Formats: sequence, structure tokens, C-alpha cells
Amino acid sequence: MTPEQNDLLCRVEGAAPMGQLMRQHWMPACMIEEVAEPDGTPLKVRLLGEDMVVFRDTNGRVGALDEFCPHRRASLSFGRNEECGLRCLYHGWKFDVDGNAVDMSSEPVDAKLRSTMKTKAYPVREAGGFIWVWMGDPGNVAEFDPPNWAAAPDDKISIVKMHGACNWAQVLEGSIDSAHSSSLHSSNMPAALDVAGSTATDTAWLRPSADKAPRIEVEKTPFGFRYVAIRKPIVDADKQDYVRMTLFVAPFTVHIPSNDRYHLSQMLVPIDDVNTMFYWIAWHPTKGIGQDEWRRFCGAEVGKDVEPVTFRKVRNAENNYLQDRDAMKQGDFTGIYGIPTQDMAMWESMGAIADRSEDRLGSSDKAIFTFRTQMYRAAQAVQQGEAAIGTVEPRVPHGKLMSFEGMVPKGDDWRNLNVSDEELRIRANQAARKGRTVEAAESVA
Ligand code: FES
Ligand SMILES: [Fe+2]
Repeated sequence: MTPEQNDLLCRVEGAAPMGQLMRQHWMPACMIEEVAEPDGTPLKVRLLGEDMVVFRDTNGRVGALDEFCPHRRASLSFGRNEECGLRCLYHGWKFDVDGNAVDMSSEPVDAKLRSTMKTKAYPVREAGGFIWVWMGDPGNVAEFDPPNWAAAPDDKISIVKMHGACNWAQVLEGSIDSAHSSSLHSSNMPAALDVAGSTATDTAWLRPSADKAPRIEVEKTPFGFRYVAIRKPIVDADKQDYVRMTLFVAPFTVHIPSNDRYHLSQMLVPIDDVNTMFYWIAWHPTKGIGQDEWRRFCGAEVGKDVEPVTFRKVRNAENNYLQDRDAMKQGDFTGIYGIPTQDMAMWESMGAIADRSEDRLGSSDKAIFTFRTQMYRAAQAVQQGEAAIGTVEPRVPHGKLMSFEGMVPKGDDWRNLNVSDEELRIRANQAARKGRTVEAAESVA
């Protein structure tokens, strides 16, 4: 990529096309648990370089307002959250969850300003453990389409949250990069003879393959793409393949292969051009993993591995991620504790915004290449006034999108694994349309 193309892919602040593209999708602002309490502490949130304050009012309604008071721009995050509104400390103006000024203590009772004053309030939804906000055109709010872990209200959901000090796109490229799991996470995902698929223990995910050079195949879809990493299994390698399928749901969601206890999804959400919030969701309708256990497994416990409120890492670039060279000599591959922190060390080491004019992709990077070209073109399209990727028909309902992991007999087509009926119908329609176009072209010829 040229530096200009790289900027188009990565930058999200202000009028940047990629930020405008994301504004046509609902954005996760924070976890529900961060603003669970009515009249609790308001939360500062930064998304796409825009600052807001999220709070739950006395009646349990959630509001997301411009962080800065419309009076003289003091931060509402210090405000008093009480009696159904957030009151600015500076002169006492108070706003409800819809942004209406319900009190303006410093103004005369009959001031005209009182009846017209409003601050910016983002539309809000609560689903799947998250508070979602709409940052796009307020006159054109899209219907909220819950992701797969939020589609069923009774699913057991656990979330890891971690701040990344670098651009969102290099974090996302880590989520669609199956090959790195066989090196970077090899101590956490060791090969095992006696498992048929990814198997979760208390400390590791065992996998039935020791193959470090997967064959990658990609299929573009209306929502983004799905790709598989095909590995030689330890057992019956002449009859079957070990297949791990990942889905990229534009612009920032990835469903990675499940294990025998829970499904796994990630959201790589731009805070601004050079900071990203990493969310890792473990979920299942019946089995699953508890919130505390999930955070312990990932080395992402709040107050121990990540700072409360900011979710900045205790093991970070300043202290070399507390890399333990002795542990490495004794067999630990990275000497860095916790899967997400291992990833963070790699992503942040690339610089605030990775220079893609300098990297050399190999055959294991096919999904990375697809992501770059697909999203670069999608940003260009938005720049030219077209609709954002994932917002036009035909749309596959997001709740039905699933990754896949397991043994597949050699010769079987992975493109049909875990595909919903809705998507099969869309595919059939597209194939029929293509057939008609070819027929028409032939009849003209
Ligand atoms: S700055 Fe908020 S009330 Fe004055
Ligand atoms: Fe990773």
C-alpha cells in the first residue's frame, strides 16, 4: 500500500472516510457492567476521536451525551448523576438522557435559552453485554442488528476488555491471522494427540494439529468475508483436514473459531487514529465460561492485569510487557503472560499506525490482503458518496453468522460449513442473477 492508501484504511477521526463508514454502523461504546448502576459514576468514552459521556439515570435509562457541556465546555464526566439527569459541576446546567436541558441554574427563570437548550445525545441500545451508540446521521438511524452473541437474550456472555496503544486496523489484522496462533500463542494453544478439535482446559486450548503453515482460502461475502486456515491434523492426515474458519464482519467485528466450551468473537473498536479498544467475547447458549474465569484465562483481570476504567495494560510497552527470558529458556514461547497481551506486544511494536508500504505479505496473509483491499475500497466508496459496506442489500442477518472449527473430510467444500439458510438463499439468488447476465450477454453476442 502507498502511505496515502494506508491513511485511507487506518484513519477514522473527523471527516476521514473510514470514520464516516463506521458511523453508518452501531458502535460499541462500553460494556453494560461499566454503567450498570442507576445514578452511578458517568463514564468518559472516546470513539472515532469523538468524546462522549455515558451514564445511567435514576430510572435506569442510558444516555450518551457530548462530553463537553454546551455552556462553556467543561467535562460532564465530573457531573452529578441524579434525579434523571447529569448536572454540570461548573454552573449547574443539567441534561437528561435525550440531551434536553432540564435545568439551567445560572440563568434567570424566564430566560429564553431555557426552552431551546439541548446538547448532543447519541441514540443508544443495550444488547449482548454492550452499550451501543449511533454516531451517524441522527435523521437516518439504522435498525440495530444484534451480533451473534447478542441475538439470543439468554446466552452466557463473558467479555475481556483491553486498551491497545495503536491503530485499529493492525489490531484487526491480528484477528484474521490464523497463522500467528501456531507461533505467538503456541504455548497457550499446544498440539495434542488425543483431541478431535479445539479443547479448552483451565489454562490452554489444545488443538489436533502441529502444522504451523496453514493453507489460507478466502471467500468474499455481503458482510465482509470468511476465510479458512487448513492444517494437517496429527491423525489421519491423508483422509481429513483440520479446518479453522474465521468471519470478518465489516467494519470491525471478527468471529474466530470456537472451542468445545464457548464461541469466540472480537470487536476492534477505534478510540481514535492511534488507540483501539479490544473486546474479546466468549459466549455460548448453554455451556460458556464465567466472566471471572474468562478474564483470568486471558490475563485480563480488571485491577490486576488492566487498570480499572481505562483498561490500560499493566504489562505494556514501557515495561517490555514484563517479558520473562528465563521462562522462554524453559519452553514458554514468548515469555509474555496472557494471549491478548502477547498480541498487544506485536501490534503496538509496529508503531502507532503500521507502515503498510514497508511490509511483505506471504501466502499465509491472504485474509490480511483481502481485508486491506476490501476495506480500502469500501472507504473509497464512502468518500465518493456511496453507502458503507455491510449496509446495503442483500444483508445477511448478523445474528446467524458463525465461525467453524473441526475435522473435515478431504474434498468437502468448506464454503458450506455453518452457513445460514438466509445466506444460502442470497447466494442462490446471486448465482441465478449472474447466470441471467451471462445468458443475456450471450444472446446479444
Ligand atoms: S460549563 Fe457546564 S454549566 Fe457552565
Ligand atoms: Fe493472537
